[in-house]
Amino acid sequence: MTHHHHHGSPPLRGRWSSRLGFIMAAAGSAVGLGNIWKFPYITGMHGGGAFVLFYLFCIAVIGVPLMVAEMIIGRHTRKGPVGAFRRLKGGFWGAVGWLGVCAGFVILSYYSVVAGWTVSYLWLALQGTFSQQYTQQVPQLFTGLLSSDANQLFWQALFMLATVLIVIGGVKKGLERANRILMPTLFLILVGLAGFGLFSPGGSQALEFLFSPDWSKLDQSAMLEALGHAFFSLSLGMGAILTYGSYADEETNIPKVAITVSAMDTLVALLSGLAIFPIVFAYGMAPAAGPGLVFKTLPILFSQMPGGSIIAILFFLLLVFAALTSAISLLEVVVAYYCDEWKWDRRRATLVMGLVIFAIGVPSALSNHLLKDWQLIGERNFLDSVDFIATNYLLPLGGLLITLFAGWVLTPSVAKAELAKGAAVSWFYPLWCFLIRYVSPVLVALVLLNKVGLF
Ligand code: TRP
Repeated sequence: MTHHHHHGSPPLRGRWSSRLGFIMAAAGSAVGLGNIWKFPYITGMHGGGAFVLFYLFCIAVIGVPLMVAEMIIGRHTRKGPVGAFRRLKGGFWGAVGWLGVCAGFVILSYYSVVAGWTVSYLWLALQGTFSQQYTQQVPQLFTGLLSSDANQLFWQALFMLATVLIVIGGVKKGLERANRILMPTLFLILVGLAGFGLFSPGGSQALEFLFSPDWSKLDQSAMLEALGHAFFSLSLGMGAILTYGSYADEETNIPKVAITVSAMDTLVALLSGLAIFPIVFAYGMAPAAGPGLVFKTLPILFSQMPGGSIIAILFFLLLVFAALTSAISLLEVVVAYYCDEWKWDRRRATLVMGLVIFAIGVPSALSNHLLKDWQLIGERNFLDSVDFIATNYLLPLGGLLITLFAGWVLTPSVAKAELAKGAAVSWFYPLWCFLIRYVSPVLVALVLLNKVGLF
């Protein structure tokens, strides 16, 4: 197969308009509900410290090298995952791209439901619900939301509509613009909330819970969950970052972008934990309360802070945007596939697939009320089960395959050349090579097999 590079010729596919635009878009994809909704609740379920430290280890040793790998493959091929793997190798490896597109469908289907919850909370905040006189009622709001199927469907539909409209706008206009201002603002608000939380009564207990490890709590399930969540939170294992890399320009310094994005993502997750757990302890709530944790805790914080009702509006507004910029990247993988491989036009691909994904998400939206007795995995309802399968199996498997591909199938000179573009750092390539060949695949395989019970 011949490898064409379009030096000099105007690119037919979209490009980010600047390097900062690429960083912000990748960070926008990474920072989302995974950081603010999911990280605190699974940390609570798995007992805190040990889980958090193992998660940080996974980010640094497995996540960062995989993010670099996805960016290399994307920029080198200038294609989405299906086209990229097919062009570089084909055969079995084409299936890796497919797995990614499927994961995009599955994850966005329930992601949009949870995102819908955040839109509904924004609506509540706008009505002044989180002011002082209502502190007592705050916990019931979430139960109320979950007990209405129609409300959840409505907010899910609204969120999907917004996602579709932005993705139709394309790489520069739609994706990039949305990311640039919103991320830094969200970050600032979180710093404020975490600060407020830390100096309130539950602060020191929260710190201890989050960072002092009790290793006996780190069982096989916790390890797989931490690993899977490292992939989920960094948007890895399904070709989303690969697709974004395919729009990056030749001068982009890939290691620098990957490290910056991973660091920002991790910081946001930790800040969100620091904001949420002080409330959990100050009010004697259960850290293992499950998927509703954020929605039951932060509103209490808002109802007690000076200016809390304004901060609540800002926070939920930004959370909705963080969810949007992540959802965009999930839909983008699916759309890029239909555009690149089926030659659909962008508008058609986005509208049709947006509708299909909405439809797949309907059982998730109904999973808390109408379909609440339909439990697939353990005690989990439909939404939690699909999330469990995607995060614990699809992403680690996809991540393992991409890692193996980058380490053992991709021609080393290709990776080396990609890493040398943009200011080269000589120590990075050997380190990356070592991690991606020997360390990450072995660790991911061990954690997966261990959980499945093969040894
Ligand atoms: N990383 C996002 C979050 O934490 C979710 C997300 C966006 C994602 N794109 C992805 C997860 C691709 C896995 C794969 O909310």
